[in-house]
Amino acid sequence: MAIKVMGVAAGRKDSNSEILLKEALIACEEAGAEVTMINLRDYNLMDCIGCTSCTIGMSQGKNVGCVLDAKDDKKKIMEALLNQDAVIYSVPTYDLMPASNYLTFAQRSLSYETAFLETIGAIEHRDRVAGLISVGGSTRAWQSMALEGLQATMFTTDMKVVDMMLATRVPGPSQVLLDDELIARAHKMGENIIKAVQTPVEERGWLGEENMGWCPNCHSNALVLGEMQWDGLHYPIECQVCGAGGTLKEENGKWKFVIQKDGLLKDRTTVEGRAKHLEEIAHTQGGFFANPENREIVAKKITRYKEKTFKGI
Ligand SMILES: Cc1cc2nc3c(=O)[nH]c(=O)nc-3n(C[C@H](O)[C@H](O)[C@H](O)COP(=O)(O)O)c2cc1C
Repeated sequence: MAIKVMGVAAGRKDSNSEILLKEALIACEEAGAEVTMINLRDYNLMDCIGCTSCTIGMSQGKNVGCVLDAKDDKKKIMEALLNQDAVIYSVPTYDLMPASNYLTFAQRSLSYETAFLETIGAIEHRDRVAGLISVGGSTRAWQSMALEGLQATMFTTDMKVVDMMLATRVPGPSQVLLDDELIARAHKMGENIIKAVQTPVEERGWLGEENMGWCPNCHSNALVLGEMQWDGLHYPIECQVCGAGGTLKEENGKWKFVIQKDGLLKDRTTVEGRAKHLEEIAHTQGGFFANPENREIVAKKITRYKEKTFKGI
């Protein structure tokens, strides 16, 4: 059976993110893959309304879907997307991060949370890989959360990111066509995606530039100072994407992020690591709902805010 690869673009028609995505998909097609491509701009996608009925259902052992399923195109896209061996996302950078149409799409994926659904036995595990392309007018400095923002949306649907590329300094429509290196790199991404799918699941690993980013676990380029977590776990330095914990060390005049022994305890790129987050939700949110006194306190205190209104526009 042919390898199935889907491309998801979010930028202007026939412009930079579409072009790079198509180049990557051409490489996949050349390798014999069955290729599908969409641009999110062609679909009706509503914002998550935050009702959490999907996760409330999951906590009761049921897969109830999303209350917006019949109202827009999210479900239709997800049915195709989750039936792939690989997905390549190509998204313009707006205000340092992925464009909002992509984020609207991605943040509707809570009802597809694979760690939750697998934990309750509602779905079978499926191994998929992903490639990420961020496209911006500037250098890394003005795309500082672009790839990291895309990476952060991969966990919910359990996409293993095997390659990422940051296309810099291409602000104009289709301007990327002037940059043969970027086009060649996108082609390479397509080849990497096929290579990853053809590799046995347990041996699949990172295929992008070896030294990309700070984090040796997920290759993000973003670290933060760690703070005490809900269960007392504390890392001096954390990867802001995968949650790996450790410290900075100097080696041959260069700073390195070294992951400590228990530093992958809550690695968000794995189903096991994300399942730890389920424990946190059960503790924090579950604890709130479990104690009837909490609701009474909230009901009393909320009047100050419900009754107070300000002039709108
Ligand atoms: C609202 C808006 C915000 C933008 N913000 C950034 C930015 O923060 N950093 C950057 O590098 N490029 C930024 N850009 C430039 C786009 O990322 C760039 O034009 C890109 O090529 C668009 O991709 P497309 O051609 O696939 O639509 C911005 C563009 C728009 C319209």
